[in-house]
Amino acid sequence: MGILIERMKMDDLDSVLAIEDEVFVFPWQRESFAEEIKQGSEFYVTKEEGKVVGYLGFYKVKDEMQLVNLAVTKERQGKGIGSELLKWALKQAKSLGAKKAFLEVEKGNSRAISLYHKFSFYETGIRKGYYEGKEDAVIMRAEL
Ligand SMILES: CC(C)(COP(=O)(O)OP(=O)(O)OC[C@H]1O[C@@H](n2cnc3c(N)ncnc32)[C@H](O)[C@@H]1OP(=O)(O)O)[C@@H](O)C(=O)NCCC(=O)NCCS
Repeated sequence: MGILIERMKMDDLDSVLAIEDEVFVFPWQRESFAEEIKQGSEFYVTKEEGKVVGYLGFYKVKDEMQLVNLAVTKERQGKGIGSELLKWALKQAKSLGAKKAFLEVEKGNSRAISLYHKFSFYETGIRKGYYEGKEDAVIMRAEL
């Protein structure tokens, strides 16, 4: 399966925010995405028939990649889009010089965790009460 991935633009934000509200308990706000776009951060979308169906963002600092965002609209989940986005981002980060990747994921998010395992991420620690003091986060790492 191949998907087309492009840089997130201001015009994409309405649909990105709709997905963000749909899939996350603590969604990012418009200003946060807008700031990343202005900064030229590594934030990307994939579209079907011109409509955003998934997106992802990461930071590259020195030789580390930090994945900060990954989501696929509910209607299109389970069809390989998340895997394609992540595969592409890991490759992109590696080409920018990253040697290792980190992310935080809600401890109870078994679907995302199994996706990360598929890409060789392993658990390196727990951040207690990371999500608004309620849910713990699992810290995961992969070598690129
Ligand atoms: C996590 C998420 C991005 C995965 O995207 P997706 O397009 O649904 O994922 P894929 O179809 O590529 O599936 C990837 C893997 O996820 C897991 N997965 C997919 N559907 C699943 C299901 N119904 N039940 C359990 N695991 C499932 C599997 O490990 C799957 O790999 P496999 O197909 O080789 O078995 C998506 O479900 C999502 O947006 N969830 C809400 C937001 C979120 O939790 N983001 C991550 C925050 S850290």
